[in-house]
Amino acid sequence: VTAIGPARIRSFRARVWRHYREHRREMPWRETRDPYRILVSEVMLQQTQVERVRGAYARFLAAFPDFAALAAAPLERVLAAWQGLGYNRRALALRRIAGIVVGEHGGRLPADPAVLVRFPGIGAATAGSLCAFAFDLPVVFVETNIRRVLIHEFFPGRERVADAELLPVLARALEADRPREWYYALMDYGADLARRVPNPNRRSAAYARQSRFEGSDRQARSRMLRALLSGGPATAERLAAEAGGEPERARRLLEALAREGLVARGRGRYRIAGGEG
Ligand code: ADE
Repeated sequence: VTAIGPARIRSFRARVWRHYREHRREMPWRETRDPYRILVSEVMLQQTQVERVRGAYARFLAAFPDFAALAAAPLERVLAAWQGLGYNRRALALRRIAGIVVGEHGGRLPADPAVLVRFPGIGAATAGSLCAFAFDLPVVFVETNIRRVLIHEFFPGRERVADAELLPVLARALEADRPREWYYALMDYGADLARRVPNPNRRSAAYARQSRFEGSDRQARSRMLRALLSGGPATAERLAAEAGGEPERARRLLEALAREGLVARGRGRYRIAGGEG
């Protein structure tokens, strides 16, 4: 491993900024400084492509314009607004976060990654992105686009690059006087790189491909939730028919959904949970 010198960092920054000047992507959540709106976007973007999030974002904010509105909303309505995004657990987590912000933080999102990572559904990447985008704090965090950039630029030919190896490089490259803009630029550079080169993230120790959706448990979970949202309470047999697959599997998935707090069971039927707890 050759040392990465200051000139190398400078030229890297210059390249990222030039790309940003010429190819920056416009996104509605980059037009706001409202931590609530930025939180909603970051949770949606965790496992979902920008283009898919664009559609759901405006709809969700129209239904739940602030922390108080989301905290007070029935889970059914929140899940209904979430349809099309997948990984419905995130909608429940977001609503729980709204409850915590209203109940324990005076209605204001804490500007501290160490506090944010303890919130439901928030990992280090989202805690970092929230601090950068909502509060313009010079945090150091790695997410998929950032990881792609750093591995491609600074770790050519290496396999199983650990995030711990990326962090010091990222800390040195960080434009500490304008972190929000810097991370937009870095993410856009990474998104562009994804179109230009074979995915450098395959050389990340953290690499995991998103699993196939067709025929998956994830698909069956989504379908059963959708059926419960549109048709009301139903038996496992009914829901198995909706989702395609054996009642045994449906029951197993429904029990997992119940443990997670997304559905409730009573008198042999499943329903969307109240979302408390
Ligand atoms: N801009 C702001 N947050 C983003 C994210 N998570 N992914 C891509 N672009 C973004």
